[in-house]
Amino acid sequence: MKSQATEANKVQYRSSRKIPWDKFAFEYDTYVTNSRYPPLLSFMEREQDLLIDTIKSLITVKHNVVVIEIGAGTGRSLFSCRQDVRLMNKCLYFIGIDNAETMTHIAMIKRNQLRDSQEISYNDSKKFVFLTLDGENLNRYFYSGRIKRPESRIDRKNLIALNRLNDELYSSATKIICILLNTLGNISPSNRVRVLEAMVKAIPPGGMIILSLFDGSSFQQGALGLYQSIAPMVGKVVQNDFYYDTYELKAKEYYSHWFIPQEAAELVQSVGFQDVEIIPFNGSELKGIFLKAYKANQP
Ligand SMILES: C[S@@+](CC[C@H](N)C(=O)[O-])C[C@H]1O[C@@H](n2cnc3c(N)ncnc32)[C@H](O)[C@@H]1O
Repeated sequence: MKSQATEANKVQYRSSRKIPWDKFAFEYDTYVTNSRYPPLLSFMEREQDLLIDTIKSLITVKHNVVVIEIGAGTGRSLFSCRQDVRLMNKCLYFIGIDNAETMTHIAMIKRNQLRDSQEISYNDSKKFVFLTLDGENLNRYFYSGRIKRPESRIDRKNLIALNRLNDELYSSATKIICILLNTLGNISPSNRVRVLEAMVKAIPPGGMIILSLFDGSSFQQGALGLYQSIAPMVGKVVQNDFYYDTYELKAKEYYSHWFIPQEAAELVQSVGFQDVEIIPFNGSELKGIFLKAYKANQP
């Protein structure tokens, strides 16, 4: 189907391109984390299984694992790792990065609630660390497999969270950086490349990234239903907001791009990742792409 976008909504979209998610934060768990919309629910379940299996595959007797998630939101994915005992034992830290302060704030409240209700132990609760940071600024704190301690005292809250991390244990652990639930598609194309470049620099050669994306081949069937299911949070979406030729939604308050596998593979290769593995998942209405890739040994 041809794009039905009008000049009017192009202008509207341009004027609100860098949209912070703070305004969605209080409704996020209602409409996404606890969604009952079947295609989204099955996407999230399958994504979670793939994530947990991948993390577990990296656990060895000698090595602990650190999981960093860019666009961690209110912690949906990171907290669901708590259900796997072996994973909890061998994961040193779950570090959630998000540029919306309200999202980070809610994630920290949820961590404290899980601890207070004894769903996680006090020691395990300390593994969950949340920072308010744009993904493209990841190297302010994480560089080449190590923690970088900033000299200036800006970002006081981040520094308090960062001070909980043990440099030596962090350096010796295997690091995985992930971006889940098509968050990469919520990021504008130029910012997207800068975020991926920061991911390359944050990990040592051989380090792994994971991207979980919505597959553009299901955009036509799946996008309208999905965005209508979250419309109370992101605002009304109408047919003119959908660009079927580029797999994009450009609504007044919300942007999302869905990917085709080759596009996603070429994107990560262009910034220095290699050995790309793509696992297609989920049903026809909301197909997923689970992509794993490694930082090349030579730049
Ligand atoms: C679709 S939500 C996903 C939240 C969470 N990963 C989940 O699966 O439930 C996207 C999140 O990414 C965050 N985000 C968007 N652009 C970002 C960026 N450039 N850097 C860091 N976080 C970003 C938003 O604030 C939002 O919390």
